[in-house]
Amino acid sequence: MNTADLFGPSALERARLVWLHNTLHAHAHRYYVLDEPSVPDAEYDRLFHELQGLELRYPELLTADSPTQRVGGRALAQFAQVRHALPMLSIRTETDTQGSGAENFDARLRRELGLTELDAPLDYVAEPKFDGLAMSLRYEKGVLVQAATRGDGEMGEEVTQNIRTIGQIPLRLPLGVPAVLEVRGEVYMRRDDFETLNQRQREKIAAGAKGEKTFVNPRNAAAGAVRQLDPAIAAQRPLSFFAYGLGEITPALKGGPDFVTHLELLLTLKSWGFPVSTLVQQAHGATELVAFYADIGAQRDSLGFDIDGVVYKVNSLVLQRRLGFVTREPRWAVAHKFPAQEMQTTVLAIDVQVGRTGKLTPVAKLAPVFVGGVTVTNATLHNEDEARRKDVRVGDTVIVRRAGDVIPEVVSVVFPESASPEAPPRGAMFTMPGSCPVCNSLAVREEGEADYRCTGGLYCRAQRKQALLHFAQRRAVEVEGLGDKLVDQLVDAGVIHTLPDLYRLGFRAMAEIEQVTTDALYARLSDTERQHIALEQLKSLERMAQLSAQNIVQALEKSKQTTLPRFLFGLGIRHVGEATAKELARHFGKLDAVMQASEAQLLEVADVGPIVAKSLRTFFDQAHNREVVEQLRACGLSWPEGDPAPLAVQPLSGKTLVLTGTLPSLDREQAKARIEAAGGKVAGSVSKKTSFVVAGAEAGSKLEKARELGVPVLDEAELLEMLNGRV
Ligand code: IVH
Repeated sequence: MNTADLFGPSALERARLVWLHNTLHAHAHRYYVLDEPSVPDAEYDRLFHELQGLELRYPELLTADSPTQRVGGRALAQFAQVRHALPMLSIRTETDTQGSGAENFDARLRRELGLTELDAPLDYVAEPKFDGLAMSLRYEKGVLVQAATRGDGEMGEEVTQNIRTIGQIPLRLPLGVPAVLEVRGEVYMRRDDFETLNQRQREKIAAGAKGEKTFVNPRNAAAGAVRQLDPAIAAQRPLSFFAYGLGEITPALKGGPDFVTHLELLLTLKSWGFPVSTLVQQAHGATELVAFYADIGAQRDSLGFDIDGVVYKVNSLVLQRRLGFVTREPRWAVAHKFPAQEMQTTVLAIDVQVGRTGKLTPVAKLAPVFVGGVTVTNATLHNEDEARRKDVRVGDTVIVRRAGDVIPEVVSVVFPESASPEAPPRGAMFTMPGSCPVCNSLAVREEGEADYRCTGGLYCRAQRKQALLHFAQRRAVEVEGLGDKLVDQLVDAGVIHTLPDLYRLGFRAMAEIEQVTTDALYARLSDTERQHIALEQLKSLERMAQLSAQNIVQALEKSKQTTLPRFLFGLGIRHVGEATAKELARHFGKLDAVMQASEAQLLEVADVGPIVAKSLRTFFDQAHNREVVEQLRACGLSWPEGDPAPLAVQPLSGKTLVLTGTLPSLDREQAKARIEAAGGKVAGSVSKKTSFVVAGAEAGSKLEKARELGVPVLDEAELLEMLNGRV
C-alpha cells in the first residue's frame, strides 16, 4: 500500500474520479444508446481501469452509480425492458497480447482446482470473440418468443421484431427441445454486408436524404440495426448470428438433452439449427490455447467478420459449476484480446505528401501510438474532402485505425465534449495548399477527381524521387540497394535530374566543367571510365563507404539487362501497372511498336481501355519522355524484343447469326453483346449467308426459313459453348 492511501484520496484524486465518472458515462451513452462511440474501445477500457484502480485503493469512493458497477449499457427508453431470467454476464479480459494471457488463465484455474503438475492438462473450448452484440433468444415450446439485448446484464431491451428479420436465427426449433430454452450468442454484421450497407448509405446521403449516416464499423452498424425502432428498416440491414452459450433451460439439464461439456452443448445447438462458428476448437492445456490464439490471430484479417480476440472456456460443465463466479464474471472463462486495431492519439501536424504521379496526399503526423501491432506515427487522410469531412485539425485527439497490412488511417476526431476541459481552442480547418509543398508548382484538382496534383512533373523533386524509386524497384528493372535514403541524397545533391541520370552518376558535374552535354560526354567515354566516375560520385556522398558504392555500381550494371514488361512498367506511366505492361509487351513485341501505336491500336490490347490508351499516348507524345527512353537505351538498357503476338482468332469472327424466339437465360441484348464480343455479327433476317440461327422458345418464321435454307440451328446452350470457344 502506498503511504498516501493511509490518508485517503487527495483532492486531485477526488477531482479525477468525478471526471472519470462523467467521461465514462458520456462515452457509454454514446456507445450504447446512440450507437456512435466517440473513443476507441481501448481508450474506454483504459479510463475504466483507471477508475477501478482508484476505487480499489479507496473503497470509500465507490458509489452505486459508478460506471464500474454496470455490466453493459443502459437500455434505450423506446424499447420494452425485459428482465433476463438468468443475468447475462461479462467475462474477464486478458489484455496482454502474448501467449502469457492464456498461460495465466490456465495456471489460475489449476490453482483454484488444486491441481498439481502431475494432473492432466485441463480440457477447454476455444472460440473467437465475435465483435458484435450479445443477444439472448428465448424459445418456449420451441418457438422464438423473445430476443433481448444484454442491457446492464439484468435488464435488456426487447428487440424480438428486429431479430426475427435475421434469416440465420431459427424461429421454430425441432421437436423435443426443452420447454424453455434461452440461447445466447452474438449478433454481428459481416464485413461485406457492412461495406454494401455503407455504400448504400453514401448514395442516400449523396442524393440528399436527411438523417442518414454511414457507420464507423460493422459492430456499430449491427447495434444500430438491432436497435432500430422500425423493423422494416432493420430488415434492410443484413445481420448474422453465432450461438455460444445458454441462459435459462427448463427442464434442467438432467432431464433435457444429454450434454455434459460445452462442446456437446455447441454441437447440440448446431443440430437445432443455430449457426456455430467453424473456428471453435477443443484445446488441451495452456499450450493449445496459446496455439489457438496465434492461429486465429493470423486469420483475423481474412475472416468475413470482425473479431477482437478469442474466448477460452472450461469444457466440462461440472467443472464450470465448481469454479463458479467472482462478482459477475465466471471463473471458468476468459477473453484474450488481440492488439487493438483502433487507438487514440494526437495530431502533431498535417503534412502534404507528393506521390510519384504528383498526387498530393494529406498525412496526419501523430504522437507515436501502438495500434494493430505496430507503432504508428503517420496516418493518411486520403484527400482534401476526406480531411475536411472528418474535420481533422492540428492538436486534435483522433482515432487511428490500422488493420492488417492496410495503411493506417484517421477514422475520426474524438468528440471535443470528451476532451479534457483545459484543452486549448482547436486549430484551423485543413485546406490543400494551392501549390506543391516541394517544388511550388501549381497544384490542380481536375473536375470529377478527388485528388490534387502537382503540375511540376519531373521538375518536382518529390516526383523525381518517387519516379526513381519506382523504376528501381524489384518489380521493375531492380537496382538492388537503391533505397529512399540514397535517392534523397542523389536528388537533393543535384546529381540526378532525370531518370537516365541514374546511369550517368557524376556526369552532370563533369559535363558542366567541360562545357559539353551529358549525352556527348557519356558517348565519348569507355565503360570502365564511366563506372569509375559513378563510383567517385557515390563515394563523395555522406555516409557512403567504398564497398556500398561498388555494390550500387554493380547493381546498376546488372539492372541494364531487363525485360520489356519490366522496363515499360518502370517508366511509371499513369494507369500502366505490371499486368498492363506485360500485355503491351506481348501484344506489340517491340518498344517502338508500343511507342508508335495509335489509341485505336492500343485499344486492341487485352487489358487496355480508353483511359489507359489515352495515358500511353499522352506519355509517348511528349518529346521529353521519348528522350528519356532514348537516353536509357544509350546508357545500355536492353531487353529481348519479340514479334507481335498474332491476333487471337475469336470464336465467332466472320460469322453472322440470327436470333429468334426467347432464350432461356440471355435476353436479346445480352445475346447480341456476347456474340459481338466474340467477333460475330447479328443480322435481322435469315439468308443463305447466315451462319447460324439461334432459336429459343416460340421461334417463328425465321426458324422455318433456316430449315428451308439448310442453315444450322443452335439452342442457347450450344451458342454459349461456341462463345466460349469450345466448338
Ligand atoms: S461467452 C459467461 N463467448 O464478449 C460468458 N462471449 O464479456 C458469457 N463475446 O458481451 C460470454 N464472442 O457478447 C462468449 N465466443 C464468445 C463470445 C463472447 C463474443 C462477447 C459477448 C460478451 C462479451 C463478454
